[in-house]
Amino acid sequence: MKFKHLISIDDLSKKDIEYILELAEKFLPVAQGKKRTTPLEGRLLANLFFEPSTRTRMSFEVAMKRLGGDVINMTAQEASSVAKGETLADTIKVVSKYADVIVLRHPLEGAARFAAENSDVPVVNAGDGAGQHPTQTLLDLYTIKKESKLENLKIALMGDLKYSRTVHSLIKALTLFNARIYLVSPPTLALPEDFLEEIKSRVRVEEVKLEDVIEEIDVLYVTRIQKERFPDEEEYFKVAGSYKVDAGILERAKSSLIVMHPLPRVDEIDISVDRTPHAKYFQQTFYGVPVRMAILHELLLGDL
Ligand code: CP
Repeated sequence: MKFKHLISIDDLSKKDIEYILELAEKFLPVAQGKKRTTPLEGRLLANLFFEPSTRTRMSFEVAMKRLGGDVINMTAQEASSVAKGETLADTIKVVSKYADVIVLRHPLEGAARFAAENSDVPVVNAGDGAGQHPTQTLLDLYTIKKESKLENLKIALMGDLKYSRTVHSLIKALTLFNARIYLVSPPTLALPEDFLEEIKSRVRVEEVKLEDVIEEIDVLYVTRIQKERFPDEEEYFKVAGSYKVDAGILERAKSSLIVMHPLPRVDEIDISVDRTPHAKYFQQTFYGVPVRMAILHELLLGDL
C-alpha cells in the first residue's frame, strides 16, 4: 500500500482522490442497503473520539458494518484510562493491538500524525483541532461531483474560515480541481493570512460579500462558528449570529446552486433553506457512508 494512514488531504494526489470517489460510487448501493458485500469481515475498527461527533463517528461505524466489519468505541474520556493520566501515545499503542484500523478525533492539531507514529495499524484523522478533516473533504468532493461538477467549479466558502478544519482541508483539495474560490466571512474569522497566501499561488481566490457572487456560484459551502476553538468566549459572542443564509438570498442564485454544510448547524442556515432544491447538506451527510467505505476498504485491503 502506498498510504498506511489518512492524516491530511495533502497526502493524496488528484488521482488518489478520483480513485476514492470512484470506489465510493461502487459502494453506493451497499451504503443504501440495496446490495450486500462483506470484504471487511473479521476486521475491527476502533473509534477514538476525544471531541463530540455524531456524523463522523456514526458513519464510520455504519461504513465498517455495512462492509462486514465490526467496531469498538471509546467515546467518554472519563470512562477510559485517559482519566487516570494515560498518554495519547500509550492509548494508541494499546488500541492498535486490539483493532485493525483507528479513527481518531482529537482537539490538538497534529494529534493524528502523532498517533500514526505510535500505531501498528492505519490511523484515520477524523479531525485534529483546527487542523484537517480529510474524510469530510472526500465526502464533500463526492457530494460536489454527484450534485454539481468538480472541475472549474465556482464555490463560496462562508463562515468561520479561521478555525474550520473542514474548510482548511476542502480548500487544499479544491486547488487540484481548478476551482474559483470566494471567501465570505466576518473579518475576525477570515482565513489565516499565511494560508491565504499559500493557496493564492495555486488557485484563483478572492474575499467577497455573498451578495456580490450569489448569482454566479455553483456551490455555497457554509460553516458554523467553531465556538469551542475560541481562546476567549467574549470574542465568540462578538461574532455569534453575524451571518445567516436564508431562502430569500437564494432567490437570486442559479437554479443549479447547491448549498452544503458539514453540520452541525447552529443558526447560519435558516430552516427555510431546507425546503428548497438547493439544500444538499443532509444528502451530504449520507454520502459520508460510501466515501468512508472506500477509505476503509483501501486502508485495510486496497492498493492506494
Ligand atoms: N461534519 C462532522 O464532522 O460532524 P460531526 O462533528 O458530527 O462528526
